[in-house]
Amino acid sequence: MIPLARPTLGAREEELVLETLRSGRLSLGPRLGEFESAFGSRLGAEHVSAVSSGTAGLHLAIREAGVEPGDDVITTPFSFVASANCLLYENARPVFCDIDPRTLNISAEAAADAVSDRTTGLLPVHIFGYPPDMPGFERLAADRALWLVEDTCEALGGAHADGATVGARGNLSVFAFYANKQLTTGEGGAVVSASAEAKERIDSERNQGRAPDMGWLDHDRLGFNYRLDDLSCALGVAQLERLDDMLAGRARVARLYGEALADAEGLSLPCPDEGGDRRGWFVYVVQLPPGVDRDAAVVAMRERGVDTKPYLPAIHLFSFYRERFGHREGEFPVCEDVAARSLALPFFPELTEGQVEQVVEALRAVIERPA
Ligand SMILES: Cc1ncc(COP(=O)(O)O)c(C=O)c1O
Repeated sequence: MIPLARPTLGAREEELVLETLRSGRLSLGPRLGEFESAFGSRLGAEHVSAVSSGTAGLHLAIREAGVEPGDDVITTPFSFVASANCLLYENARPVFCDIDPRTLNISAEAAADAVSDRTTGLLPVHIFGYPPDMPGFERLAADRALWLVEDTCEALGGAHADGATVGARGNLSVFAFYANKQLTTGEGGAVVSASAEAKERIDSERNQGRAPDMGWLDHDRLGFNYRLDDLSCALGVAQLERLDDMLAGRARVARLYGEALADAEGLSLPCPDEGGDRRGWFVYVVQLPPGVDRDAAVVAMRERGVDTKPYLPAIHLFSFYRERFGHREGEFPVCEDVAARSLALPFFPELTEGQVEQVVEALRAVIERPA
């Protein structure tokens, strides 16, 4: 079976993780700072806080941004659920707007239309690693005095048309390092902040509200246990050393899929980079032609040795969002159509040409002979 995702791990990861294990410093040790500064150097960002997951990072980032209970925050319904859920942790309300059919991100214009008197913040997501119009969101934030947090969990390796590396624009931005990501620490994430003071507050909140100069059980603010342990950080340091190769591997596989599927009728492929924006390749998600039964396609592909997954469902249509906020079908038609037809194909740096061919053959068979 060709799996959907697989991390790239080798001797260097083993070496650094074992070294850390043998050092006996398993948490809040030297690997934490080492990973943070190596990740920051890679991005071109000075202030990085490693945390236990992307979700934890989003929670800390919106708190740092100043979210308050009862606030409305504009975000996308087409994302992994954590980008909306983090707002619920603080009793804020996600206000969704429909996505752009090309990029699958919300546009700054759609977000501007959704702003009301109750809106306090913007939380755009770089879905499938494609950059949203961040200059547009930054202007909107400045014009309407809104805070801005970028969910860059899927977007490591991307860049904006204005030359900025994704995650290093000076906004609060959050990365994730789960095992399917461009870089993995097993579980993990990172918050990039604009100032040393912001990093200090985030570092404190991830560590139970303890300031760096305080005693062991002294806490001067509400905090959480969102620490990233040193074994994970060691893995992250090793992964950073091979990040360029891993990103190049993903770009190679994306190119192979793009060439092999370019003429598949009715199939939508990930949008090509446009206007100088560059995708950080995370997943390869196609939209099946209208009328193809996706559940049957998943089964048929599996029978041909190919693992695929519907990816992603629309957040507003999850039962718990419907019940809590009264959402219903038809509210965000572009998102709902894309969510109903999206299928993630196997995607990781080591996929061979032969495996890509096997995936493409299976997909073509499904499309050409819909179940
Ligand atoms: C867009 C987006 N936001 C947030 C997250 C949450 O990251 P984590 O799973 O590390 O908590 C993910 C992870 O898959 C994601 O894809």
